[in-house]
Amino acid sequence: MKPLNIAIFGSSGAIGKALCFEFSKNNSVNNIFAFSRNGVELDHQSIISKQVNYLNENSLTETSQSLECKLDIIIVAIGALEQPEKSIRDISSVKFIDMFNANTIPTALIAKYFLPKLYKDRITKFASISARVGSIEDNELGGWYSYRASKSALNMVLKGLSIEQKRSNPNSIIFGLHPGTVDSKLSKPFQKKDKEYFTPEFSAEKLVSVIDTKTVADNGKIFDWDNKIIPY
Ligand SMILES: NC(=O)c1ccc[n+]([C@@H]2O[C@H](COP(=O)([O-])OP(=O)(O)OC[C@H]3O[C@@H](n4cnc5c(N)ncnc54)[C@H](OP(=O)(O)O)[C@@H]3O)[C@@H](O)[C@H]2O)c1
Repeated sequence: MKPLNIAIFGSSGAIGKALCFEFSKNNSVNNIFAFSRNGVELDHQSIISKQVNYLNENSLTETSQSLECKLDIIIVAIGALEQPEKSIRDISSVKFIDMFNANTIPTALIAKYFLPKLYKDRITKFASISARVGSIEDNELGGWYSYRASKSALNMVLKGLSIEQKRSNPNSIIFGLHPGTVDSKLSKPFQKKDKEYFTPEFSAEKLVSVIDTKTVADNGKIFDWDNKIIPY
């Protein structure tokens, strides 16, 4: 197998960081480029840390140009969930903009600047961490308007990318992932005492095995940590 080059965005987060270390255990991985807003260093010989502003196109241009090799896999593990709306009364434009800036727009802009860095003549994978609550069909509880909508919109962005990208590389696979309910800064305020949460390491191990199994037949779909399809 040819050595793999992988880019992970959101490497300062619990799941992003655990994904970097999980991929680093694989002998066929050459470089792991770990991108974060603050350029946090991760201590492993194959991890190269880089700082980037996900919403600034100059920053994305510069960082993408700084990569001297082609990529096999790109994973986006960026996102936020703050004070989700319990009721219609809680809806605000500021919250909607914040949620789209954290959960939707980074993946679209990263795709714009980094999909051209993927090999054109190999199987390549681009995945973004979505959330089960972004599924419209699965929504039975309501609430959390802006977070849910930002993840549903992310799923639509991934679907569009999957259609466009396969025209230039029929072996391109683009998909969404749900990591399970994971102990992290994001989930902390919503954790309940009597419920168990995945560690980021457990979730990353599961996600990497899901990513490994993906074939072109999976292009454009959303999968959970257990490799089950999540409906749009
Ligand atoms: N934890 C869960 O139970 C769970 C469940 C379903 C889906 N997810 C999804 O999994 C992904 C990773 O979450 P996590 O649990 O690892 O959370 P986390 O530890 O809080 O990490 C979040 C990551 O996103 C970045 N980020 C946060 N707010 C941002 C913003 N406004 N703009 C740009 N970047 C921002 C953070 O960067 P800084 O370090 O610079 O702040 C960090 O790298 C997210 O997409 C989340 O929606 C998590």
